[in-house]
Amino acid sequence: MFSSIPVLSGRTKATRKMVHKHGKSTALSCNAGSRCSLSAIIWSLAAWILLIHAYNTLTPSNSNRVESQVQQYRLSMYREHEDIEDRGFEVKQRGKKFVSPSGKQRGRRHTPIDDFLDVTSQRRSLYFPEKNLAVNPLKTEDSRKYYFYPGREWRDTESRPIQAHGGGIIYVEETQTFYWYGENKDGRSYRMHRKGTARVDIIGVNCYSSKDLWTWKNEGIVLPGEKVNKTHDLHVSNVLERPKVIYNNHTKQYVMWMHIDNANYSKASVGVAVSSSPTAPFQYLGSKQPHGFDSRDMTIFKDDNGQAYIVYSSEDNSELHIGQLTEDYKDVTKVMRRALVGEHREAPAVFKHRGLYYMITSGCTGWAPNTALAHSAESMLGPWETLGNPCMGGNEDFRRTTFFAQGTFVLPLPGMPDTFIFMADRWSPAELRDSRYVWLPLTMDGPADEPLEDDFEFPIWSRVSIYWHKQWKLPEGWNSPLPNQSS
Ligand code: GAL
Repeated sequence: MFSSIPVLSGRTKATRKMVHKHGKSTALSCNAGSRCSLSAIIWSLAAWILLIHAYNTLTPSNSNRVESQVQQYRLSMYREHEDIEDRGFEVKQRGKKFVSPSGKQRGRRHTPIDDFLDVTSQRRSLYFPEKNLAVNPLKTEDSRKYYFYPGREWRDTESRPIQAHGGGIIYVEETQTFYWYGENKDGRSYRMHRKGTARVDIIGVNCYSSKDLWTWKNEGIVLPGEKVNKTHDLHVSNVLERPKVIYNNHTKQYVMWMHIDNANYSKASVGVAVSSSPTAPFQYLGSKQPHGFDSRDMTIFKDDNGQAYIVYSSEDNSELHIGQLTEDYKDVTKVMRRALVGEHREAPAVFKHRGLYYMITSGCTGWAPNTALAHSAESMLGPWETLGNPCMGGNEDFRRTTFFAQGTFVLPLPGMPDTFIFMADRWSPAELRDSRYVWLPLTMDGPADEPLEDDFEFPIWSRVSIYWHKQWKLPEGWNSPLPNQSS
C-alpha cells in the first residue's frame, strides 16, 4: 500500500568503503605468498562465507523475524480490509432537507452525522449493532475467538457490557497483564437543561484486566464517585472524564490523571489519584487548573526515559497545552508549551514511534463525531505539525467521522514494532451507557524522520494509518514471547 523510499544511509556507505579497503589489502598479501597458499586462503574464505550464509538463513535474527511477522500481519490486514469494506454504510438521505427531532425544518442539508445521532434512524443498528451481536468472550465459539468487532457491544468475563469509556490502557510487564481504565457510564443519561450536554452522574473509574486484550475481567470501580459531600470534586453531580494511568518506577505508584469538571464544564480542571496496585482503590489527591489555565479533554504520556507529560485542551478548547509532570507524576512543573494554537482540537492520544512523537486528536463537537487528525513532533514539547486525517478504508462518511467515533488512546502492541491499537469511543448521547468501543489497528508506514540523500530539508514523517475493519484480530501468538527474546 505504502512502499517505503529506499534510503542509502551513511552507515551503509561507510561499510562498503571498509569492505573495499579490506579486499585490496587481501590481494596485496596474496601476491606476496605462494600459489598454493593463495588457493588455500580463497577456498577457506569461500567455505567461511558459505557457513555464515547458511547460519544466517537457518537462524534469522530476532529483528528480522519480528519484521517479517509484522509484514505478514499487515498483508493479512489489508486483505481483510479489502474483503469487508462496507459501502452499504453510505447515508442515502444526504442532501434531503434536515428535519430536527421536533419536526422543525432547519433549512440545511441532512448529514450522515444527523443520521447517526437520530435514535429513530432506520440505520441505527449499523452504528449501534443489536445486542444479540455482542462480543461475549465466554460465549464465543472457538473459530470466532479473539475477533474485534468495532461498534458492537463488548462484554466482560461476567457477560456484562464493558463500562470503560474515554479510557486508556497500561501494560504491566512483570505479570504480562493489561489494565483498561475508563468511565463507568452505567447510569441514567439526562440533560441539566434543554440545550445542555447529555450526561451521566459520576459513578467512577472502572478497571478491567486482560492478558489477550480481548477477554476482560472486571476489577471493579477503583475510584468511586462521592455520593454525600456536595463540595467534593467527585460528587456524583460533577464530571469525571478521560481517566489515564501511568506507573512511576521511583515511587512505585500507579498515578491516575483525569478531567474534573462541574456539570456545566466551567471548572475545567485536572484531578490526580494514586494507588500502590493497578487494581487497588486509588486515593484521590485533588484537582487544579494546570499552569493556571482551563483544562478539559486531556491525556498523559510517559516517555521511555521516565519523563511524563500532560496534554490538555485549553483557552476554551482553542489550543492544546503540553506540560511536563513532576518526578512523582502528581503535579505539573512550570514547563508548558502551546500546540495547535487556534486549531480547536481535543481528545488527544499520544504515542511514540522510532524516536518521534505522534498524536491523534478530534475536533470539538461534543458527543458528535468529527474528523480525526494525526500530528507529529520531534519533541513532546513541540513544535507539532499536522499530518492529516489518518482514517482509511470504509467509506467517505466513515473516514470523515473517525468511523463515527472519537479517539481516546493509542496502545503500542508489546513485541510488534510499528503496530498499535487505536482506541476510540462511539458515543451514544441518548444513552451514554450504550456508547460503543471502536478499536482498530494503527500502523506506521514509510520512512521515519530520515532525510533523503539529497536532503530536501523537510522531515519525512511516517504515515499514520488507521484502517476501518468490520472485524479483525491480532496475529496468532503476538503476545507470547518470541524464541530467544528473553535470553
Ligand atoms: C467531548 C469530549 C468528551 C465529553 C463530551 C461532552 O467533546 O471529548 O470527553 O466531554 O464532549 O459533550
